[in-house]
Amino acid sequence: MTETPHNTKKLFIKTYGCQMNVYDSDRMADALAPHGYETTAEIGEADLVLLNTCHIREKASEKVFSELGRLKILREARRANGKDMKIGVAGCVAQAEGEEIIARSPVVDLVFGPQAYHRLPDLIVKSESGQVVDTDFPQEDKFEHLPAARKEVTIKRGLTAFLTVQEGCDKFCSFCVVPYTRGAEVSRPVAQVIAEARGLVEAGVKEITLLGQNVNAYHGLDQNGRSVGLGELAFLLAKIPGLERLRYTTSHPRDMDDALIAAHRDLPLLMPYLHLPVQSGSDPILKAMNRRHTAAEYLTLIERIKAARPDMALSGDFIVGFPGETEVDFEATLAMVREVGYASAFSFKYSLRPGTPGAELADQVPEEIKAERLARLQELINAQMAAFNRSCVGRTLPVLIERPGRNAGQVGGRSPYLQAVHLEGSGDLIGHILPVEITGVGKNSIEGKLSRDTQRKSASLVESRVA
Ligand code: 5AD
Ligand code: SF4
Repeated sequence: MTETPHNTKKLFIKTYGCQMNVYDSDRMADALAPHGYETTAEIGEADLVLLNTCHIREKASEKVFSELGRLKILREARRANGKDMKIGVAGCVAQAEGEEIIARSPVVDLVFGPQAYHRLPDLIVKSESGQVVDTDFPQEDKFEHLPAARKEVTIKRGLTAFLTVQEGCDKFCSFCVVPYTRGAEVSRPVAQVIAEARGLVEAGVKEITLLGQNVNAYHGLDQNGRSVGLGELAFLLAKIPGLERLRYTTSHPRDMDDALIAAHRDLPLLMPYLHLPVQSGSDPILKAMNRRHTAAEYLTLIERIKAARPDMALSGDFIVGFPGETEVDFEATLAMVREVGYASAFSFKYSLRPGTPGAELADQVPEEIKAERLARLQELINAQMAAFNRSCVGRTLPVLIERPGRNAGQVGGRSPYLQAVHLEGSGDLIGHILPVEITGVGKNSIEGKLSRDTQRKSASLVESRVA
């Protein structure tokens, strides 16, 4: 489909929250591209602004409404110049609050949930005659209707790509809104996932991160109607020629099955970095959170994973100040962190989410205690992250060179453990996985240099291209 320049409209998407929203924002841009929408990085020149929102914690939700206030002013400025700006709210806040968004913020033209993204072009047309809300969970498979990105668009987005393989969650952790906002767990069929992965790799993508709210609960059907788990899916994806690295996020400890652990043992392309949230190290709190495992079970699981892949780097999520959490419970969390030794971790103050069982609990923890515990936990986690980075100094790690560095003559990439790596080198190295000797640590990154041998080889790589 060709776009005539005078029909081109500018689209600005602001993405909040997790990687699944990053993936969805790209899908929305792909759905609108055939209708003449081109993405812009300049919000002021946008004919259509979409906020792809996050509902996980109260602060995340509130950000949307302050942004809508700013957009109202921007729109007025555009109208004064004879232009306009349509404003849409997508994502989890849209799904959860629907009509209320329009009531609270009349500036909004359309509100639509994650299951409606393939209908976006229609919704925009409908919004010409009044505000539109679409937060249905339709039976149809939106992925069947969402167009793939054009090759040149895919590669512009980078050498690494996200691929959503499942959505929703059936776990019902008592603090979490996801089972309500994103609904029941749904896995995409195996063939659909493989076709999308192939398309990404054919466009030049080297690394794919499989996404899902509870990705290791994946159970897509194959062509014979047989249910395939994430471990088996990893083996199937590993056969795609040109796919060099595979990752997945976010996982639940209960769904780390033998097949997935075997995939970590047997598949070199499956990267040795695992985000496996535990939330708390205290058994009574884990129980109240409805996590359905104990601290000891989590630690045993980590041992099994490390037996399969000894260099596995671990990442996690933690919540402090869940209702009823005592100092003793919190210290059990610190002990858990010390025991595991995380390469990275995310930690949050418990945020009461209306409609979840946690919101009904007595013993809500006062804000200042939450803040104090969060600071202590983050100090420990930051020290562990720094120690992990230092432990890499002197090692030679394969680095996927992804982009030019901040300074001329530098490039940047990622280690298998998802660390950002900076090194001296020319742009010709981009797209290659090269051995890099780690020589130092930065604030949130590590630094290295190409081994002599690789420097020679990369020089000949450049020469052969020139020839
Ligand atoms: N309060 C604080 N953190 C939360 N998370 C999910 N719900 C809440 C909440 N109500 C955190 C969990 C989860 C991550 C995505 O967000 O740690 O793993
Ligand atoms: Fe939320 Fe728990 Fe499901 Fe993760 S596993 S999305 S924390 S309910």
